[in-house]
Amino acid sequence: MNDLAGKHIVLGLTGGIACYKAAELCRGLVKQGATVQVVMTQASEQFITPVTMQALSNRPVFTSQWDAREPNNMPHINLSREADAILIAPCSADFMARLVQGRSDELLSLLCLARPIASVRLLIAPAMNREMWAHPATQRNMAQLAADGATLLGVGSGLQACGETGDGRMLEPQELLEDVIAFFQPKLLAGRKVVVTAGPTFEALDPIRGITNHSSGKMGFAIARAAREAGADVVVIAGPVRLATPRGVRRVDVTSARQMLAATEAETPQADVFVATAAVADWRPATESGQKIKKDGSGQPPALSFTENPDILATVARSERAQRGALFCVGFAAESHDLVDNARAKRERKGVPLLVGNIGPSTFGQDDNQLLLVDAQGVVELPRASKLALARQLVAEIARRARPAGT
Ligand code: C5P
Repeated sequence: MNDLAGKHIVLGLTGGIACYKAAELCRGLVKQGATVQVVMTQASEQFITPVTMQALSNRPVFTSQWDAREPNNMPHINLSREADAILIAPCSADFMARLVQGRSDELLSLLCLARPIASVRLLIAPAMNREMWAHPATQRNMAQLAADGATLLGVGSGLQACGETGDGRMLEPQELLEDVIAFFQPKLLAGRKVVVTAGPTFEALDPIRGITNHSSGKMGFAIARAAREAGADVVVIAGPVRLATPRGVRRVDVTSARQMLAATEAETPQADVFVATAAVADWRPATESGQKIKKDGSGQPPALSFTENPDILATVARSERAQRGALFCVGFAAESHDLVDNARAKRERKGVPLLVGNIGPSTFGQDDNQLLLVDAQGVVELPRASKLALARQLVAEIARRARPAGT
């Protein structure tokens, strides 16, 4: 919960009903350790008061370029120089047009223009009615802002305050917060494609029952998020789990091991990195009954027989691209004892360059974990931390070992 520690963010509000979400966003930024300086346009004050934003940011809000509180009377210079980033949320259609033109007749657009463009990035969270959003003028302005170096955070879709339904809503505060956190992460995997398997598989016995493994999917989802934060194009192939898909990650839902293998084999031929965190069921029932298997009154349980499932990781690791190092494969081992020995043996058996061990029962369903990285050089321990913090460290370790994109 301290992903923005040491960061100073200018949060700019412009005129739009989504200003109500800016209050929650401000609180989220502060909770993550950022200091937040709110700057509001006159129009935004029609929707939310500076009092609210001051209370949430714990700093007086700036609303005018003539603010005499600054000794040199240059808030546009002072505020933009101390910022790590300027985030405009909500950014109205009008404010986008003003930015495109380089207008500077009020404080917020003035400080955007005055910012040191190479070091203080401008993040934009548009918010407007769907027709305004779809209008060629807005789309043209978006393209120009991107060409001028701004980062466009996209919009949400759905019911709008005006009663219409479509694209143009401001993203939810939690989504924007994830985007801002991602923005500050080093882009160690920019331009790479990463495929992650996550969660358990479920192998049906009949329409009602099946066998499965313990796995919340949290570690795999954290790795998918961390890889995305590092700039990768990420696909998570998920068994049955109840987890929100990380921002910007494509998700393919599967149930059984065979479905997971098919999805993995469809995605990995274009990938640079494959991380197998899924807890795949080793066996599946040899036959799947089309109807519920009933008790027959004899007191005897049904005779069940099993077939071994394909080993997804070993299959991918044997592929031609993995063998010549174009696809870097990472395996996981959840053990209950002798972690180092088991992890070493598993690395050899699966034929992967990097194997990550963890003690299964002490991590199932938890938000934190402890990892052991085993490669040809030896063993490195990543001490107990949140799964997301560990995932970021693991991504850095993978980036160091995997071949640069396109080689
Ligand atoms: O053999 P074991 O299940 O302990 O190996 C664990 C590693 O292999 C994990 O990375 C897991 O995702 C992967 N695995 C797999 N397909 C299987 C079994 C395991 O990809 N059928």
